[in-house]
Formats: sequence, C-alpha cells, structure tokens
Amino acid sequence: MSRPYAIVTGASEGIGRCFAQALAAQQRNLVLVARNAERLEDLAADLRTRHAIEVRVIPMDLGRATAARDLMRDVGDLPIDCVINNAGFQVPMGPVRENDPATVRDMIALNIVAVAEVAQAFLPALVKTRGTLVNVASHAAFQPVPYMAAYAATKAYVLHYTEALNAELADSNPGAVYVMALCPGATQTRFWERSASKVEETRFSVMSPEAVVATAMSAMRKRRRSVVIPGVVLNLATLALRFGTRPLNAAIAKRLVGH
Ligand SMILES: NC(=O)c1ccc[n+]([C@@H]2O[C@H](COP(=O)([O-])OP(=O)(O)OC[C@H]3O[C@@H](n4cnc5c(N)ncnc54)[C@H](OP(=O)(O)O)[C@@H]3O)[C@@H](O)[C@H]2O)c1
Repeated sequence: MSRPYAIVTGASEGIGRCFAQALAAQQRNLVLVARNAERLEDLAADLRTRHAIEVRVIPMDLGRATAARDLMRDVGDLPIDCVINNAGFQVPMGPVRENDPATVRDMIALNIVAVAEVAQAFLPALVKTRGTLVNVASHAAFQPVPYMAAYAATKAYVLHYTEALNAELADSNPGAVYVMALCPGATQTRFWERSASKVEETRFSVMSPEAVVATAMSAMRKRRRSVVIPGVVLNLATLALRFGTRPLNAAIAKRLVGH
C-alpha cells in the first residue's frame, strides 16, 4: 500500500497553498482540490519536483450539492490520513441588507455544507488511519461581527461543529483522530480582494498565511488543542471576549471592522 495522502481543499491559493507546501516539505503525499485546475497543476508539478512525493489534482467546485460524494469517488482507494478542510470565501463586507442573497447561499454551501460533508465523508478513513482533520474556521467565529454577519456566522458553525465532533470522538475512540478548528485572524491572502474588501480598511492585525500554517502544523505535531488560534494578539483578544457581554463583543467587533 502506498504512503497515505493528505487532502487539502482550497489548495490553489492562500492558506491552503501554504498547507500543501508545508505538508509536502514533510514528504506527505497530497490530494489538491480547488476550482482552478491550472494553478493546482502548477503547484503539484512544483511539489513533485521539490519533494519527490505523489500529488493528485482534483479540480472541483466544492459548493456544488454533490461535491463531497464526487470527491470521495475521485479519491477512490487512496489511503487518506489527513484532511485540511480549508476552502472558503466571504461575501463583500457590508450591511446585511446589501448582501446578494445568491452569493450568501453560495458561501453557506462552501463554508458550511461542504466543510461538514467532506469531514463526514472522510471520517471513517481518518478513524482507520488515526489521522488528522483540520477545519479552517476563523477568529470571526468567536463573536457576532457586524458587516461580516453571514460570513462570521458560517465560521461559528465550523467552530461549534468541530468542537462537538472532537468531543464525540474523544468518547468513542480517545486519541484516534486529531480534530482541529483553526481560527486565523485577518490573513494576507487574495481572500480580501476576492470579496471586494480591503483588509487595510479594517482595524484587524494581519498575519501572513505562512505564519498561520506554521502554527497549525506545530499544533498538528502535538495533537493536543482542538481550537488553534494563531498569534499572541489574537489569543489575548479571544481571552478578553470571555469578559464581555455578547452585545459588547459585537459592538467592539463593529468598531474593528470599521466599515
Ligand atoms: N484570509 C483571511 O483573512 C482569513 C481569516 C480567517 C479565516 N480564513 C479562512 O481561511 C480559508 C482560506 O482562505 P484564504 O485566505 O486562503 O483565501 P484565498 O486565498 O481566497 O483562497 C481560497 C481557496 O479556496 C478555493 N475555493 C474558493 N471557492 C471554492 C469552491 N467553490 N470550490 C473549491 N475551492 C474553492 C480557492 O481556489 P479556486 O478559486 O481555484 O477554487 C482558493 O484555493 C477560508 O476558509 C477562509 O474563510 C481566511
């Protein structure tokens, strides 16, 4: 049997691309998933040459209703011991009344439905291999965020879903699968440009995708924390949220968004 593979969704750019590079540097075979086939093929060719690993490319729109099933079919009998459930996007920042309903629906399909269905689809494989599941949430998951209302709510889903799954697995099979909700703050990727938003116009502190992934990879080695928040500032901010009421936390988030 060949060495196991790690699946990375949203691998064509940003945080997912950095995950693919970091896993490849550890000689991990990879399955790369996103819509842009050309970018995935370029990355795959580079990683094969640099690290002598096997890389499969599966171009796919994960927002489609059959995405998780199609991904399972395309992965076939490759042994999977890691899933980085990372693909996601946000609708343009702004008041809810200005959100385009169709785009919000697409965002929910990708950020919530695909994340949950991909996690569930590969759970048996991860149990079998005592593997790792990383669901990429966001620091926006910890409080209501005015002007990013729908996006932050999708990430609250990912955070709660992941923590609940982790608790279930701890009961049935302690330590078998390592489950992490990764909660980055603002990260310098094309995520902002894609949502027609400018991170510079917010009061968020910004990290690089490399730093976010380095924190996640370190946590994956230790296999302890189920919620991973990159950066000292963000960890302190999360602690502070415990002392605020929910309306106060929402008001502070509104100021930070600065819309
Ligand atoms: N950047 C931030 O400030 C930030 C902060 C917290 C959390 N996050 C989360 O981190 C994750 C990665 O974001 P990022 O910053 O790396 O964004 P990014 O640079 O825009 O990358 C997003 C990735 O997702 C893929 N993708 C988008 N829609 C897809 C679809 N329908 N089907 C399949 N793949 C799709 C994109 O590739 P294609 O276009 O080729 O499909 C791309 O590879 C997201 O879940 C995001 O919510 C980001």
